[in-house]
Amino acid sequence: MRKSILAFMGSPRKNGNSTVLAKKIVEGSLAAGARVESFYLHKMKISPCTACDKCHKADDRFCVIKDDMQKLYPKIIAADGLILASPIYFFSVSAQLKLFMDRCYALGGPGGYQFKGKKIAIALTYGDVDPFRSGAVNAMRTFQDAFAYVEANIAGYVYGTGLEQGEIAKNKALMKDAFDLGKILAGKCNAQ
Ligand SMILES: Cc1cc2nc3c(=O)[nH]c(=O)nc-3n(C[C@H](O)[C@H](O)[C@H](O)COP(=O)(O)O)c2cc1C
Repeated sequence: MRKSILAFMGSPRKNGNSTVLAKKIVEGSLAAGARVESFYLHKMKISPCTACDKCHKADDRFCVIKDDMQKLYPKIIAADGLILASPIYFFSVSAQLKLFMDRCYALGGPGGYQFKGKKIAIALTYGDVDPFRSGAVNAMRTFQDAFAYVEANIAGYVYGTGLEQGEIAKNKALMKDAFDLGKILAGKCNAQ
């Protein structure tokens, strides 16, 4: 069975560093036989969660806010794996990705979250040369705690330095790691 993977790009820059890195993960997954669909969150209408909590009531499906998350919910439920890509903005993930993550609250209910058993690959880029000083570690901690909570499995992270749009592509070792992570995500290799 071909694995089904969704990629969520969290940068406002169409060919930004985190997107370049995520596209390499996508290439690896495609090479391993997966089907991949990509979404540019900045181009989508995704409003903030209003904490009405209706999504967690047994008879309510998804979220009451009628925006682009409605078309993403069924796709997320059906997917085997997700790629999340973000620039580091002020020591954590971009607002675009955080909005999306908050709205995934609606995929929870009495039986737990509909992320259970899915594989997750994460791509982060930042301007600083140090992943600690850049704030990338804060984002990684967030993913670690969030995906443990929803019982998903992190297949791996790729992260690196790049300030100007797309310059991360020069980091060939990182590009290879991203490609390999895509294969892991598609189930053709063991996790790192
Ligand atoms: C609003 C804003 C905030 C940023 N904050 C940080 C930061 O906290 N730490 C850091 O190392 N780089 C920071 N940067 C640099 C970006 O993380 C870096 O350029 C990244 O590679 C951009 O990814 P993208 O090309 O995918 O958008 C910031 C850039 C912007 C525009």
